Amino acid sequence: MPLGLEEASVRQAPFASAGLEIEELTVRFGGLLALNDVSLSVQPREIVGLIGPNGAGKTTLFNAVSGFVRPTRGTIRWRGSALRNHRPHDLGRLGIARTLQGVGLCRGLSALENVVCGAQPRLHADLLSAIGGLWRSSREERQIMDRAESLLGELGVAEWAHRLPDALPYGVQKRVALARALISEPQLLLLDEPMSGLSSAEMDDLSGRIRAQRNHISVLVVEHRMDFVMATCDRIVVFNFGEVVMSGTPDEVIASPEVTEAYLGEAVHTFDTPPSSPAESPAEDARERPGARAEIRPDPPIPGEGLPRAQG
Ligand SMILES: Nc1ncnc2c1ncn2[C@@H]1O[C@H](COP(=O)(O)OP(=O)(O)OP(=O)(O)O)[C@@H](O)[C@H]1O
Ligand SMILES: [Mg+2]
Repeated sequence: MPLGLEEASVRQAPFASAGLEIEELTVRFGGLLALNDVSLSVQPREIVGLIGPNGAGKTTLFNAVSGFVRPTRGTIRWRGSALRNHRPHDLGRLGIARTLQGVGLCRGLSALENVVCGAQPRLHADLLSAIGGLWRSSREERQIMDRAESLLGELGVAEWAHRLPDALPYGVQKRVALARALISEPQLLLLDEPMSGLSSAEMDDLSGRIRAQRNHISVLVVEHRMDFVMATCDRIVVFNFGEVVMSGTPDEVIASPEVTEAYLGEAVHTFDTPPSSPAESPAEDARERPGARAEIRPDPPIPGEGLPRAQG
């Protein structure tokens, strides 16, 4: 059954049904083939990492799942129903939430208000019942506010609730963005580089909090920090030039020569072969965890959010 604006009842389907299934997805931007015949899945309660070099198509995949770009070809199925013609504002009702590459908080709103904004899809869904009485509507508003406060508390940033984003340390902003995604109580969480800019300690902490969600959430996470991916994900899918190079367990992926060559390349250092120059110290994170590797790369651009439609 195709799923568009009118068919958001899929959110109520039992969690035991299939998770996210992407089949032969192709996205073309004019002459650029951003995704070519990509197939992957995220099962219920699974945390899948999506890795690959800059420009490999990772954010484009999120944009296609989120309804920001229309695929040229292929199928996106969520909980057994095909997603076609859906738009970003349908995600809340579909039970899908996303954090953006970068942070993407509203600068004029406090941290708490930003989190409350994440609940908007649910507010809209309940609009008719809210019209039933001011009392009920203000009670719902209070519940959302309470939930936003408690999420900030669970993520360890409650004391920043009434500050504007510009006044928050970067790591706090990332947690606020995560809280904004979690408040809609999604069944699928799409995280685009949630660890960029975070310290090792912050990353370990957030990794634990993300894993703690997996009893009721499927997670697809794009991340360049290999130590995070290795520690957090059940399975990893590797992209290169818009195609899936391989997928497997973290151990399988890290041991794959094709992956090392295609994705990690020369900018990778293991425990056994630490970087010779101190200027390459970003690999420090990896050295804290045996077997882990880290990529060294410049700060990425922040492409891909709110993009125009792909061309068919
Ligand atoms: N709206 C668009 N119009 C044209 N080209 C686009 C658009 N969005 C993405 N691209 C291009 O598609 C390719 C894949 O970009 P994408 O942002 O998905 O890469 P990525 O894997 O997320 O990279 P990074 O790790 O740097 O975030 C890139 O060549 C990018 O320039
Ligand atoms: Mg990206």
